[in-house]
Amino acid sequence: MTTKFPKDFIWGTATSSYQIEGAVNEGGRGETIWDHFCKTTSKIANADNGDTACNHYHRYKEDIQLMKNLNIKSYRFSICWSRILPEGTGKVNPIGLQFYRSIIETLIENDIEPIITLYHWELPQVLQEKGGWENPKIINDFMNYANVIFNEFGDVVKKWITLNEPMVFTYLGYLKGIHAPGIADEISGAKAVHHALLAHGETVKLFRKLYPSEGQIGITLNLAPMYPSEDTIKAQEAAHISDGFTNRMFLDPILKGTYPEDILVIIKQQIQEPSVTNNFTIEKDLKTISQPIDFIGINYYSAGFVKEGKQKYEVEPVEMDAPKTDMGWPVTPEGIYDLLIRIKNDYGNIPLYITENGAAYKDNINEKGEIEDMERIEYLKSHLLMCQKAIADGVNLKGYYLWSFLDNFEWIDGYTKRFGIVYVDFKSQKRLPKKSAYFYKNVIDQNGLSL
Ligand code: NOJ
Repeated sequence: MTTKFPKDFIWGTATSSYQIEGAVNEGGRGETIWDHFCKTTSKIANADNGDTACNHYHRYKEDIQLMKNLNIKSYRFSICWSRILPEGTGKVNPIGLQFYRSIIETLIENDIEPIITLYHWELPQVLQEKGGWENPKIINDFMNYANVIFNEFGDVVKKWITLNEPMVFTYLGYLKGIHAPGIADEISGAKAVHHALLAHGETVKLFRKLYPSEGQIGITLNLAPMYPSEDTIKAQEAAHISDGFTNRMFLDPILKGTYPEDILVIIKQQIQEPSVTNNFTIEKDLKTISQPIDFIGINYYSAGFVKEGKQKYEVEPVEMDAPKTDMGWPVTPEGIYDLLIRIKNDYGNIPLYITENGAAYKDNINEKGEIEDMERIEYLKSHLLMCQKAIADGVNLKGYYLWSFLDNFEWIDGYTKRFGIVYVDFKSQKRLPKKSAYFYKNVIDQNGLSL
């Protein structure tokens, strides 16, 4: 039996520039915060970096051909700001534009629809030196960059994502210091969140001005249902706080025009800096952030399980009894269903895309020269079935982008975690589609799953 998805459902894969391109010193590209971070901290596994990555910069034609062979219909990729504006602002680099133009043309020639993420975490280092996302000037700089891209590609590319996972690049980059640029400061984190969301809103406004009647624009958020790990009021409260910081802190301002009250109370206690916290209630800003958008992109990997911590408002993650991926993340397919239904119920039936979903596993080439990544296939199957169930229950889910097309540079985990449906031998740069790639091809061919 085959379960079918809606006729116009979009099947895609996703990547991001720093994770696959390499060629960091080629084509006039400027330095990014991730180039800098990799070289100046000891926080990356094996001291890896994105200097070569999948060498996609030189192999994109072959990679797109591989996508075509797998019948992939749409490709989500990101543009490296520093390839376009090596100084962050000012002079545009034609070689950078030409590189992405060629990718877009190759995709279109192969009937693969491009969907572009403007920002997947690679801030030009020169802008970080001026404060990066902490400095409100970033909003204008980002719009400037977006304006160059829209003017250049807006006639052929019809789907746009402003930011990828603002929670991750602000919390991990500016509040916890785990990701680039490595700042661990609560005030920096709070500023970065607000400025990132303002940059998103202003960019949506700009896009509407340039393309009033065509094209779609949205934002990609990492979202996850947060479940209490035990049946107590305290654990439920902890789950609500965790949901607030992860989900409502971004969904609410974007879709409802307000930051969540309960989370603001906590933030105000933590940072006691009215000049920063007052920003969260400026009406003009909230209006900008809540510009109507065409879709929300959801990156979903796993649900969270929590209980109360020792301090007031503190939340503790709890390890649940579930199978884990190589990231140590529990496999929780029902979480994607709960999440989709919840967004439909709480935020109106806005069109949704799963802009990332997938899993890292230890992949080995067997004696037949194949990679039988059965766990990944199981992961994908179970999540796709839950997506389908959500659609049957009225969720406006329009497409699914599998993360990732290629094994790639997994941020602080370097090359130790493989998320691809195509294996990359990072020494020889050979590509080898895993069994999951053929599984996914079959799903696309049938527009559904064989059960
Ligand atoms: C989300 C991020 O957008 C992507 O860059 C990352 O590789 C995946 N999660 C897996 O961690």
